[in-house]
Amino acid sequence: MEDFVFYNPTKIIFGKGKISELGNEVKQTSQKVLLVYGRGSIKKNGVYDQVVSSLRTAGIEFVELPGVKPNPVLSKVYEGIKLAKKEKADGIIAVGGGSTIDTVKTIAAGFYYDGDIWDAFTGNYEVKRSLPIYVVLTLSATGSEMNKGAVITNEGTRQKYAFVAPTSYPRVSIIDPSVQFSLPRIQTANGSADAISHVMELYFDGTSDVLIEDEISEGIIRTIIRSTDILMKEPDNYNAHANLAWSATLALNGITSTGRSGGDWSCHAIEHSISALYDIAHGSGLAIVTPAWMKYVHKEDIGKFARFAEKIFGVEESDEERAALEGIERLKNWFKSVRLPASLSDVGISSTEIDKIVDNAAMRTPFGTLKRLEREDIREILKLCV
Ligand code: NZQ
Ligand code: ZN
Repeated sequence: MEDFVFYNPTKIIFGKGKISELGNEVKQTSQKVLLVYGRGSIKKNGVYDQVVSSLRTAGIEFVELPGVKPNPVLSKVYEGIKLAKKEKADGIIAVGGGSTIDTVKTIAAGFYYDGDIWDAFTGNYEVKRSLPIYVVLTLSATGSEMNKGAVITNEGTRQKYAFVAPTSYPRVSIIDPSVQFSLPRIQTANGSADAISHVMELYFDGTSDVLIEDEISEGIIRTIIRSTDILMKEPDNYNAHANLAWSATLALNGITSTGRSGGDWSCHAIEHSISALYDIAHGSGLAIVTPAWMKYVHKEDIGKFARFAEKIFGVEESDEERAALEGIERLKNWFKSVRLPASLSDVGISSTEIDKIVDNAAMRTPFGTLKRLEREDIREILKLCV
């Protein structure tokens, strides 16, 4: 196990009806906030009304920025920074999934930066100050509600990059699993694939003797799989949503990365290139890339891949190679069982596009820790995705 510092200041308020507590929490730091949300789901499922009612009761003024799209873009961030400055906002609220939260984290940082906030994504600006951030989560997937990262696409350059900053942790995130009853099944499945991938990126980073983290990681993945299976049949099962929601938060809030070397993150790097170019859902992209990456690299840590097969899918097989391959096949089949795509062609991307994806991903090579990937490795992995 590696040395580590564990720090996570986000207060989580979890449970049915808890959105009513938003106003009182925001009041601790802010009087006038920017209220940011997506393309309308919160107006249909009653979340918007709950948010507005809580803010009004607490006497918080708010200005709205609707219209954040999945795979959020830099132009929306600029719009938000401008509006927040014009209105002299002293806080910011995200109501939505990862796309809305990440937009908010970037606006919150850009509010205090005179340059172009894209600099934070390219490593040319270190974010040290942000507006106070509050979150009402409506889709469990990214873990952004309890971490310091944000992912944004620069539409001009088709770069989908992340920045992290200690001031990007939300002060408070409210997770009411019942607001996720309105999710289409495919969004639930996308979220599950993303959360599983977060655990796996850390689990397979090559660090040895991290037993406690491995056990926690395996428990999170098994819980996500079980809860998702229930939700495919019963989309309004509260406890399944609750178990899935908390698992997805724990998947990327720092708990599973303690003692490790920082994660591999190759599947995310490759997937971000795919969703930057073709605007597909991040979770769907991961369902395609992850089994391919596993096939390509499993010999680097065959024992760990065999352990994964046993602990996650109950594979009983003494030959490690056969066990590892069986585990990869079971994961792929599970993704299919929840209607996630299994290949690039399933999402309408032809094999002739591989060069373009390789070029995009290669802007940041090499990456990966279990196996350091160069341009040609990425091409081989993508060939396994067709
Ligand atoms: O536009 P709205 O109305 O909000 O609808 C959304 C959107 O269409 C809908 N939705 C959300 N909650 C709903 C709902 N529909 C019905 N009922 C509800 N309760 O779901 C769709 C997808 O929303 P989005 O926010 O895009 O999904 P997600 O949470 O999966 O976020 C994905 C983005 O986060 C990034 C991804 O790359 C992608 O851009 N990531 C962020 C990370 C982070 N900050 O830590 C890490 C991840 O690895 C990931 O890269
Ligand atoms: Zn992800």
